[in-house]
Amino acid sequence: MQDGARRIALDRSAWTPDVAAFTTQLFDQLASVWNAERSTGRADPLLDALARGGDFPSGICLEIGSGTSEFTPILADAFGRVIALDISMAMLRQADPPPGARVRADAARLPLADQAVVAVACVDTLLFPAEISRVLAPGGVLIWVNQLGADGPLFLPTTTVIEALGGGWEAVEADAGWGKWAVVRRAA
Ligand SMILES: C[S@@+](CC[C@H](N)C(=O)[O-])C[C@H]1O[C@@H](n2cnc3c(N)ncnc32)[C@H](O)[C@@H]1O
Repeated sequence: MQDGARRIALDRSAWTPDVAAFTTQLFDQLASVWNAERSTGRADPLLDALARGGDFPSGICLEIGSGTSEFTPILADAFGRVIALDISMAMLRQADPPPGARVRADAARLPLADQAVVAVACVDTLLFPAEISRVLAPGGVLIWVNQLGADGPLFLPTTTVIEALGGGWEAVEADAGWGKWAVVRRAA
């Protein structure tokens, strides 16, 4: 799966309607067991990124691939306002009402204006760099978390994340618990 995640990050044309439909169906099917199969310490990398990833602006955070919204309350605490967005309606339906908006949409075509958010958080999901770059306000941050580190099915190293964003970005990164995180900002 890492090869597929890398192709999608680096080549917009890899996200075809068929791939989008397959992904939606896959997570629709996984939704009913998603919360039952959680391991411990899943929040550690995100909490560590927020604690040690530098200064964060306050404003709207867009959580891409929010799934069952396990991490949405953490992001709401950190940023004040959060939009939990996922392509799978079944995953969104498994979530407790999140502290913010819940949106079904494809992150390859975000239903947001340019520069609308101060942060984008991606926890174990696919990277859609052009859309992330478009919706991030100046000074905005991308929080990229892989809960299983380099073993995660959707893992991308930070160098690939920056390459996909098109250069001109810089990151701090660390290991935390089972996972890895990077906080990525436009270079000054
Ligand atoms: C591995 S799950 C992680 C869910 C959640 N972040 C977690 O860690 O529990 C990946 C999530 O990304 C969502 N996703 C995949 N492609 C997406 C896309 N193009 N737009 C929005 N969400 C997407 C899936 O539906 C799924 O809920």
